[in-house]
Amino acid sequence: TNSNFHSPRLILEDKRKEESVNQIVSALVLTPELIKQIQDTFESEMELGLMQNPPKASSLQMENTFIPELPNGKEDGDFLALDLGGTNFRVILIRLKPGHQAESYVQYYTVPEFIRIGDHGEPLFDFLAECIHDFMKKNDLLEKHLPLGFCFSFPMVQKALDIGVLVTWTKSFNIPSVVGEDAVKMLNDALERRGDLQVNVVAVVNDTTGTLIKGASLYPDCAIGLILGTGCNACYLEKVERIKKWDGEHPGIDEVIVDIEWGAFGDNGVLDFMKTEFDKIVDNNSLLVSSFTFEKLFAGKYLGELVRQILLCLIDDKLLFRGKLSNMMMTHNAFTAEHVSEIESQDGDLKAREILETLGYPSVTDDDIAILRHLCAVTSVRGARIVSICLASLLNRMKKEFVTVAIDGSLYNKHPKFHQLMTDFIAEMAPERKFKLMLAEDGSGKGAGLVAAIAERLKAQKHK
Ligand code: GLC
Repeated sequence: TNSNFHSPRLILEDKRKEESVNQIVSALVLTPELIKQIQDTFESEMELGLMQNPPKASSLQMENTFIPELPNGKEDGDFLALDLGGTNFRVILIRLKPGHQAESYVQYYTVPEFIRIGDHGEPLFDFLAECIHDFMKKNDLLEKHLPLGFCFSFPMVQKALDIGVLVTWTKSFNIPSVVGEDAVKMLNDALERRGDLQVNVVAVVNDTTGTLIKGASLYPDCAIGLILGTGCNACYLEKVERIKKWDGEHPGIDEVIVDIEWGAFGDNGVLDFMKTEFDKIVDNNSLLVSSFTFEKLFAGKYLGELVRQILLCLIDDKLLFRGKLSNMMMTHNAFTAEHVSEIESQDGDLKAREILETLGYPSVTDDDIAILRHLCAVTSVRGARIVSICLASLLNRMKKEFVTVAIDGSLYNKHPKFHQLMTDFIAEMAPERKFKLMLAEDGSGKGAGLVAAIAERLKAQKHK
């Protein structure tokens, strides 16, 4: 493996400048000691999160997902799925026929900001119902009775496969009155208010769970679902006997899917030792301050903003753009994870110049470009490293022969280096484990449809 790839180096003509930039950026470089400390902390938080009476509260929710079983290929029929939570809202139709590849039809919708952020939940759920109606009309489905799997990519307390009580909003949504409410009930109520659709919500899943289920339908050894998108989170197959907080007997069940909700890792302060000043500013400027510590370190909604904060610091120290601050550069979120992905690509120099021009810097020096590219590389490597720390811990904990990690999300999809970085980092931190990182495109939504199909299959079996 190429060591430059793992620890990006900045080389400038001006050595004094090089040193000053390195000094500032060094806070974001994870030393082996820090890596070890993060790993130990993650593992003890997982244990605490699974305990019945933990001595102290874990920042990891470790939620049981109530998925009754993995797909067995015998799922049959037409199912709808909704996928809400990230960059795009999607309505999907999934056609399943045993022995055939699943077919699906996807339509994307944008949830307007006044609906994402507000006082009341009804407008959001009415909007979702309206999109379902639009989708069914366009696909000539209005007469059909269809079961629906709802992928709701937020932390939920699940009491059954079709009950998901919202714990807190994250990412770009904030409608406080919905916290504590069951998302399935709110969607069913909205469908009922319309009264013109024969759609029934039969399952609610987190996007990580959807991705794991979709992955399991493609690869039999899939045992981890990971989302690297707007936010970041994972779920995995856990042995029932290790879930101490689960009361009672569970005859016949050996493993369940646990939604870790690791986006919130560190919300109790356990990661303070590795947070930089830049991370703190990113958090302070975010929609929901002091929450979701872990995902704010690198996930798609925050990666660009993190780079922008470092740029601002370097501009202030006159190490970049001759100290000139453009109006665009002052704007929150003006620099995005997509920009980072472009700058991390093969023709990064060119992309960096184009992007800087749109940000109010029509003429920049080679040093400016080199520094910007370096910041993108350093923050990306740190992000890939911390996700890999947690994945390596999971693999070491599960001790399975072989694990396929199913991954979905805009950051993983678009960033040209995350896949390779993670593959290398995990191999280094879990040298005994065999694994593969696989893209499960639209896995979250399609997985939700599959879960609806599994639920219907089981219901039919019961009635036989
Ligand atoms: C946030 C949500 C989590 C979701 C993740 C990825 O962390 O809390 O439920 O899985 O984003 O979308």
